[in-house]
Amino acid sequence: MLRTFESLGSLSGKRVVVRCDLNVPLSDGVITDDGRVRASLPTLNALLNQGARVVVISHLGRPKGAPDAQYSLAPVAQRLSELLGSPVTFAADTVGQGAQDAVAGLEDGQIAVLENLRFNPGETSKDGSERRAFAEQLAAFGDAFISDGFGVVHRKQASVYELATLLPSAAGTLISRELDVLERLTEKPERPYSVVLGGSKVSDKLGVIEHLLPRVDSLLIGGGMLFTFLAALGHKVGSSLLESDQIETVRRYLSAAEEKGVEIVLPVDVVVAASFSADAEHVVRDVDSIEDTEFGASGLGLDIGPRTAQAFANRIASSSTVFWNGPMGVFELAPFAAGTKAVAEALTTVDGLSVVGGGDSAAAVRALGFNDDQFGHISTGGGASLEFLEGKSLPGLEVLGWQQ
Ligand code: 3PG
Repeated sequence: MLRTFESLGSLSGKRVVVRCDLNVPLSDGVITDDGRVRASLPTLNALLNQGARVVVISHLGRPKGAPDAQYSLAPVAQRLSELLGSPVTFAADTVGQGAQDAVAGLEDGQIAVLENLRFNPGETSKDGSERRAFAEQLAAFGDAFISDGFGVVHRKQASVYELATLLPSAAGTLISRELDVLERLTEKPERPYSVVLGGSKVSDKLGVIEHLLPRVDSLLIGGGMLFTFLAALGHKVGSSLLESDQIETVRRYLSAAEEKGVEIVLPVDVVVAASFSADAEHVVRDVDSIEDTEFGASGLGLDIGPRTAQAFANRIASSSTVFWNGPMGVFELAPFAAGTKAVAEALTTVDGLSVVGGGDSAAAVRALGFNDDQFGHISTGGGASLEFLEGKSLPGLEVLGWQQ
């Protein structure tokens, strides 16, 4: 049973270390999607309202175990302060003098954010004793530990795993809510159940495809990975993204799906462009004639086509449970955003449970102008929600008492 933070009793006047996932996308130091900061607010507010002294820790990006200004959490601390409507102390290091002073200076109901955990090699070290040594430094800042960074529970890292073994620890409300929703996708989901997968690489999705095949009614494939499926069926895909070493695996999945009566719904048309740019010439082609354009074999498939988008939308809208992970095309470039937009739009009409699975897909729906409350749930964890659906062990949850 997952330990929830009520199990820790009153935290008033206590120093509580909270592991959030504040790994937000930044462009020139400006946050382009603050969804993960917003999603952290319920736990932080609950603690502050109780009069706890809150010490927030998080990673941002993948710095190499040393300070790197482009990955500083300073803009995130600033955004958090705006959203909380109260001051947030920012410590310019993670466990050094700056952090120690920031924690020592906290009064009841106040909050500090420490600098990026991954500026320290111990956070992501493969050596358990190095991770533990770093976690001990973090543990010195708290009387209790709350883990609420759902996006990182699939990582066995110092602040996710070892730290939880060193202090009285429990899950925050974000993790509890994410688990409630994801369990509804795995335990007796309402049918019809459709899963929509996109994104660039089929190799990132193999585990989830394999695990979900026996459990879903249809699997809709878009994004860059669709071209490996088309190649597996013998289509020529021009210069589109292709993982040649996965073609055999994909063929195996296609025949396994047929045996199990699961429909893998593949695109019938795609948008083919002369090059990878927003002003590239582009045309719509059926999947069996991708190279029959004036761009020949150098044509690039950058989005699903309109007939496919309509078919996917119909399938999604008539499902009772839908999970979606991965954009359908290069949605960041306006001419190739229509497929992703159509899928997002269809998810908003689902009469049942619709879940957007984290990371890129969450950023995509917000960038395309959708609101979070138009969907049943937008997960804050891309990799974590996929690994959950793959049935993998998640160290950051198991250490909190949870078992799949
Ligand atoms: C994510 O963005 O999926 C999480 O923050 C985890 O980040 P990571 O893949 O760098 O561990």
